[in-house]
Amino acid sequence: MIVAKTLEEFIQARQALPHQESIGFVPTMGALHQGHISLVEHSVAKCSHTIVSIFVNPTQFNNPQDLATYPRTLEADCALLEKSGVDIAFAPRVIDIYPTPDNRVFDLGGLDSYGEGPRRPGHFNGVAQVVTRLFDIVKPQHAFFGEKDFQQVAIIKYFTRNLNYPIEIVQCPILREDDGLAKSSRNTLLTPAQREAAPHIYKCLKKAVEYAATMSPAEVIAAVTGEIDANPELETEYIELVDADTLRPIAAWSDAENVQLWCAVYARPVRLIDNIKIR
Ligand code: PAJ
Repeated sequence: MIVAKTLEEFIQARQALPHQESIGFVPTMGALHQGHISLVEHSVAKCSHTIVSIFVNPTQFNNPQDLATYPRTLEADCALLEKSGVDIAFAPRVIDIYPTPDNRVFDLGGLDSYGEGPRRPGHFNGVAQVVTRLFDIVKPQHAFFGEKDFQQVAIIKYFTRNLNYPIEIVQCPILREDDGLAKSSRNTLLTPAQREAAPHIYKCLKKAVEYAATMSPAEVIAAVTGEIDANPELETEYIELVDADTLRPIAAWSDAENVQLWCAVYARPVRLIDNIKIR
């Protein structure tokens, strides 16, 4: 595996890959865990070569504290990637991705109007900035993203089509701990008491699937919010039931064919997100 720490090193390594082959790409911010590795495994199975980027993208953080405390573990990350059959690990400097400030504003098709969008102003535009830069540099045929970030993958699919990138976006399922907590780099920031409480989130999401059979959407949201907040370590920021295709909140079950429940929950100061398919 080649570890490219500058744009120049990456371009050299990328050019050395055979031209006719299919290149799979897994963008990450590092602090890698099995959730990331599951995306790598999908890519390795499907593509002849796999490239993983590790870049903590400053433009998608709306909270400077979150950017400052984001875990950085490059050596351990590279060891994991090497074992997983990755060809190139691309860990660029900020100046390689943003030689000048990126002022581009993207059309996100309104998919950022709910969920994380209004709670993290500028976040998805920052994701679009970095993902398009990385697509331009890496030039993959396939790119792999996790459903852990349900809204993110929908938005990435949208602008990839909108901007005519010849890249297939592959959506991969959420990998969870044995106790149900969605794997996340932020889990390492939890205190032992918070870590013990955190699996309660997914337990409540699974109950939402049952409740949906008899309750209205508003009743499901109220019930699940109450049950999550009953745990003293947890505090719901929002729970929404949305049309899985348009990402708009629904008022009645008949408003959408496919329904997803998504949420953000604080185990302060850590903010955890999760989601589940209702139908
Ligand atoms: P990061 O949070 O590092 O996640 C990288 C990829 O791993 C994303 O596609 C995310 O959805 C996926 N992922 C994380 N945890 C997962 C889990 N438990 N199961 C399955 N997939 C999981 O998302 C980002 O980085 C950034 O926004 C990025 C796309 C790299 C742009 O900076």
